[in-house]
Amino acid sequence: MTRPLPRFPAGFEWGVGASAYQTEGALDADGRGRSTWDVFCEHPGRIADGSTPATSAGFYDRYPEDIALVRDLGADVYRFSIAWPRILPTGSGEVNAKGLDFYDRVVDEMLAAGLKPAPTLYHWDTPLPIEEAGGWMNRDTALRFGEYAAVVAERLADRAAYWIPLNEPVVLSLLGYAIGGYAPGQELLFESLPTVHHQLLAHGLSVQAIRAAGGRSIGTANPHAPTWPGSDSPEDLAAAAFSADLTDWIWGDPILLGRYPEGYAEGMPGPVAEDLEVISTPLDFYGVNYYSPQRVAAPTGEPSLIQEHEIPAEMPFRAVEVDGPKTGLGGEINPDGLREILLTLTERYGESLPPLIVTENGTSQPGTEEPGPDGRIHDDGRIDYLDAHVRAVHQAIEEGADVRGYWVWSPTDNFEWTYGFTQRFGLVHIDYDTLVRTPKDSYSWYQQLIGAQRDQL
Ligand code: FCB
Repeated sequence: MTRPLPRFPAGFEWGVGASAYQTEGALDADGRGRSTWDVFCEHPGRIADGSTPATSAGFYDRYPEDIALVRDLGADVYRFSIAWPRILPTGSGEVNAKGLDFYDRVVDEMLAAGLKPAPTLYHWDTPLPIEEAGGWMNRDTALRFGEYAAVVAERLADRAAYWIPLNEPVVLSLLGYAIGGYAPGQELLFESLPTVHHQLLAHGLSVQAIRAAGGRSIGTANPHAPTWPGSDSPEDLAAAAFSADLTDWIWGDPILLGRYPEGYAEGMPGPVAEDLEVISTPLDFYGVNYYSPQRVAAPTGEPSLIQEHEIPAEMPFRAVEVDGPKTGLGGEINPDGLREILLTLTERYGESLPPLIVTENGTSQPGTEEPGPDGRIHDDGRIDYLDAHVRAVHQAIEEGADVRGYWVWSPTDNFEWTYGFTQRFGLVHIDYDTLVRTPKDSYSWYQQLIGAQRDQL
């Protein structure tokens, strides 16, 4: 089918990743509290196909089936997320035992299947009362998050293999608070910068809480991509540098170097120097989510679009589109961007960088996602995408990046935020009427890849 893959270093781990809100459903089960996304999705018109996450992939009831599918894939790691509103229905205070028990069962099921559980503590589903008290604009949220992390870690630290405190905090700041595409739907532009600092502080506090409870292998899942300027003009170069600070280095630098890129610390709230000590608590790995590179240029006074999200005219950069293959979400397919960013991180952070893991990579391929007459799903585009990105990771390792794992987003189809069910990222298809699971061709491809890598050991 495809060229044989080069051999990855011994100990390199293959995984998959998903999140609570996108897969679980059962939003009212066992005392779960309401979240920002529950409210956001209830507004007519916000979800592309008018679908709801009420059932989603049904993971809450069907997790044994999904875990068995990932076991049969031969994967090492199953990344999933814990819903803060299941553990603390109001965000703080009384713990909901049934919520904790659910994840306890999930973790045990993964271990019994020979998989390494990798919980993310926060994949954007903020408990509603926390949002009503100011959400990530409020410093208190970081403190509540640290307490929540301690509750979960005390229960699972003996069994979780990897920990990711916050998923893609930059997406929450930009889409959730700056330009309003995702929950909680605020449009504060640069006034949203406190959400950056407070999420970073939450990251640091939770790393400390997890470690205090005995948790091992703590990292991140930050989206990083090269930012390529539209041209070599000084204006485009400046716009690209500005954009890279805002999407990449404003997160990576505080976590790995204990400082903000120039010009940011002064505007952040609270005792920033003390907070940076907490934020830069050493990590065991640095997780990178990658889908597409970024191309930006100097602003023209007109809004521009990143996928379906509008970058307002007043931003000091605009997104540039190039011709060529695109993902289902409209992002540029460019595997070499993954190689480049892994090497850029290696160079930029040097000794301060722990081993890297690609914590998310994948694509949706509308038009190739439904079973054909033979009952199979021939998602060749996904296979090509994943194959090329796996090779890019290998190339980055050859060129000096210390990458220890690659986790595909996602084991099954799931609720793709505002895209609803129109975008399927799974290696396994889900029929949303029956919740029947059908492995796609990409599932067999990944299974063979993993098997072949093992045979070479
Ligand atoms: C990432 C998110 C994940 C999913 C994929 C496609 O940005 O972390 O939840 O939406 O994109």
